[in-house]
Amino acid sequence: MNLTLQILNDAQAVAGCAADLIAAQVQEKPDSRLLVATGQTPMATYEELARRAESGAVDFSRAWAVQLDEYSGLAEGDPRSLKGWMERSFVVPLGVGNVLPLTEPAAYDRELAALGGIDLAILGLGPNGHLGFNEPPSPPDAPTRAVQLTPESLASNRAYWPGQAVPTGAVTAGMSTILAAQRVLLLVTGEHKRDILQRALHGPETPLLPASFLRRTALTVIADRAAWC
Ligand code: PGA
Repeated sequence: MNLTLQILNDAQAVAGCAADLIAAQVQEKPDSRLLVATGQTPMATYEELARRAESGAVDFSRAWAVQLDEYSGLAEGDPRSLKGWMERSFVVPLGVGNVLPLTEPAAYDRELAALGGIDLAILGLGPNGHLGFNEPPSPPDAPTRAVQLTPESLASNRAYWPGQAVPTGAVTAGMSTILAAQRVLLLVTGEHKRDILQRALHGPETPLLPASFLRRTALTVIADRAAWC
């Protein structure tokens, strides 16, 4: 196992530490391909990176934001689009120069392969152990594909869109794409993630908990105390 674990006091400290790691990646390789999660967990990290980009401390203009997942069946411009969320929270505020959207799985995989794959995957941990929308069960070779969301994911995604329906279908970067990343950064905050994080790191590797396969990667987990002890 190639695991680096950082347990920090709170979500703000997690954001600072994660921003250090992402900024270092882009300073070392300005045209890095970054797989970019949405969800609540990485938002503080992206805000910290935006501050650093604005101050000139790091330059994302040659980097790639590669979309991790998207709901199916949304009309152009639907406010629930995860691409829209990625653009608002990451691409625009950081000044990221290039975007690889996820709409059609085969085209996405082809374009990503032509770019050379993912340098750094920035991921949150689903309450059911999903990564992107690789819902349980997802084997490690699951390709980029269309999926149906589980009841757990529908419930957790409801918090993102108060008063609106959560789409029931999605497309997701495959487990195979995520596990082929040069490095993976998993961000975990909050007591409600404690049990799933322990199982992901110390339980059996199983398609029933897709995040358990991250132990096969060069993995950095940055978590707050609430998610750890
Ligand atoms: P969260 O979502 O960051 O909003 O907790 C993580 C996920 O569902 O992948």
